[in-house]
Amino acid sequence: MESWILIILVLTPGVWSGDWRVTLKSQCALKGASVVLKCEYDYPGGSVVTSVGWYKVRYVSGTGRLYPVTNPPSSPNHFRYAGNRWSDCSLEINDVQHTDEGQYYFGFKTMFSRWMSTTYSHLSVKELTAYVEPGTVTEGTDVRLTCESGCDTPVNIVWFKDGVPVQNPVFRARREDAGRYHCAIPGQESVRSASVSLNVHYAPEKVTLSMSPSGDIAKGSSMTFSCSSDASPPVRQTGYSLYKDGNLIRSGQSHTISDVQPGHSGMYYCQAWNNISRRGNDLMKSAEVHLDVHYQPVNISVSMSPPNVVAGSGVNLTCSGAANPAAETYTWYRRTASSTSVLQVGSGQVLSIPSVEASHSGLYSCQAGNQVGENNSTEVLLAMKEEQHGSQSLPITAGIGVSLFVTLVLALLLLWRKLRTHAEEKKTVSDSRLSERGSSSTATEDQSDSIYVNIHTLPCSPPPATDVTPHNAPMSCEDEVTYSTVTIKPRNPLPPHHGDSNRALQDSRSEARENDEPVIYTTVAKSR
Ligand SMILES: *[C@@H]1O[C@H](CO)[C@@H](O)[C@H](O)[C@H]1NC(C)=O
Ligand SMILES: *[C@@H]1O[C@H](CO)[C@@H](O)[C@H](O)[C@H]1NC(C)=O
Ligand SMILES: *[C@@H]1O[C@H](CO)[C@@H](O)[C@H](O)[C@H]1NC(C)=O
Ligand SMILES: *[C@@H]1O[C@H](CO)[C@@H](O)[C@H](O)[C@H]1NC(C)=O
Ligand SMILES: *[C@@H]1O[C@H](CO)[C@@H](O)[C@H](O)[C@H]1NC(C)=O
Repeated sequence: MESWILIILVLTPGVWSGDWRVTLKSQCALKGASVVLKCEYDYPGGSVVTSVGWYKVRYVSGTGRLYPVTNPPSSPNHFRYAGNRWSDCSLEINDVQHTDEGQYYFGFKTMFSRWMSTTYSHLSVKELTAYVEPGTVTEGTDVRLTCESGCDTPVNIVWFKDGVPVQNPVFRARREDAGRYHCAIPGQESVRSASVSLNVHYAPEKVTLSMSPSGDIAKGSSMTFSCSSDASPPVRQTGYSLYKDGNLIRSGQSHTISDVQPGHSGMYYCQAWNNISRRGNDLMKSAEVHLDVHYQPVNISVSMSPPNVVAGSGVNLTCSGAANPAAETYTWYRRTASSTSVLQVGSGQVLSIPSVEASHSGLYSCQAGNQVGENNSTEVLLAMKEEQHGSQSLPITAGIGVSLFVTLVLALLLLWRKLRTHAEEKKTVSDSRLSERGSSSTATEDQSDSIYVNIHTLPCSPPPATDVTPHNAPMSCEDEVTYSTVTIKPRNPLPPHHGDSNRALQDSRSEARENDEPVIYTTVAKSR
């Protein structure tokens, strides 16, 4: 091919004739477009063109050489001769690439000669360049799209965003306007700019707090809170905060609780912030999610109402405790102190005993259950306050006792006076014998006429199997006064006096012996 250059140098126009001529024009083409290198040629009359050809300069090791243009195998119609054999020598290049840029020569042969253009057509390959200004905007700001062509020739362009035509190259940015933009030649969409992106910044929205696993959480299990949002720029780790019942728990996008406890129950929400966040906080808050920690009943206790149980009255035992969900089943058990066996005595949260009897006493416990599990309360003693029954009637008993005592004393006083007058009448009769005993016998004589009264203080309970209160109810403590009439028959004379304690009796006996009169003994049972 070097020979061509030599030929060009040798066969300069005018050497042979002025009729040999090739006229070329330089071109600017957009990458991807089709371009025609305009070309005209002429030659002396009478010649017959046998072949035409386009040549392109390639530089090898700094030296430019001409090579015939050939279609690449991948694109058979890349170069197409658009001229003819006599005057037009235009070359069409389809889908122009940057590699096509360069200097093109046209040459032709006639029967006896050949001709190579002395000038060349320079093809410059340019591109469309898209500009989005500004490339990063805060929502609501105006954006302008401009497209520049490297070639001077004005071109119509159209805009695309992510492949979809854009109507107006100037607009107010909304978040959905973010994307990649390019411009192109209408009808030749392969002639297009590179894509440029538009970032529209906006404060977080669609802030969502999710729980994993979702739903009800069992105590002791593990769960994770995750906060997500739609924001530009995206919310960073430190831009997220988790709140429980309105109080900040921690920052970060996710939070794991490895051992969930009832105390973790509550209403949670998260907040998300980016550097666009300026306006009201509510926009950056998630909806609240409820963490509901389920656990079996704990801290179960039994309360007794009224606290002191009286036989015959009613009592309510209430089972209460903490559980989530609330306890559904309650079972009541009774254990008697003596036996180890446990009786099931009822169900329901309140065990109501309308009228307590001795057989009801025992240790009560309740079992509360929900869908998670069940557990028992501690035992509570139900015992009847029997002493209290006594103490309640004590004032009455005491009243009866006192009034009986007073009555008795009065009766005794009356009796004493009556007997005394009677005794004085007899005194004259027995005066001779009485005088033997001295002055002390007078007092003895007085006593001999009185009624003896023994007042015993008897215990209320348990009732002794005595003759004092044989017919009464076991728990009765009523006073019982028994009067006995004792008739003493005369006997042998008594032995001498042994002590003062027997004197009264002896005197009375001697009196009785003498008078044959009845003596009344009285026993008064008095409660404590
Ligand atoms: C927000 O931060 C991004 C980078 O994270 C930055 O490009 C942008 O200019 C910032 N915007 C404001 C309003 O500070
Ligand atoms: C059970 O009682 C303990 C001790 O009083 C208490 O710390 C705990 O919070 C209670 N549990 C529940 C679920 O109320
Ligand atoms: C026990 O509970 C029932 C029903 O609530 C009530 O009618 C009754 O008066 C209560 N009894 C006592 C002793 O509190
Ligand atoms: C609760 O008490 C009942 C009766 O004593 C017993 O059968 C049951 O096993 C107990 N349950 C628990 C969880 O302790
Ligand atoms: C059952 O109750 C007892 C006593 O209140 C308590 O110690 C125990 O932890 C409870 N069991 C469970 C599984 O909560």
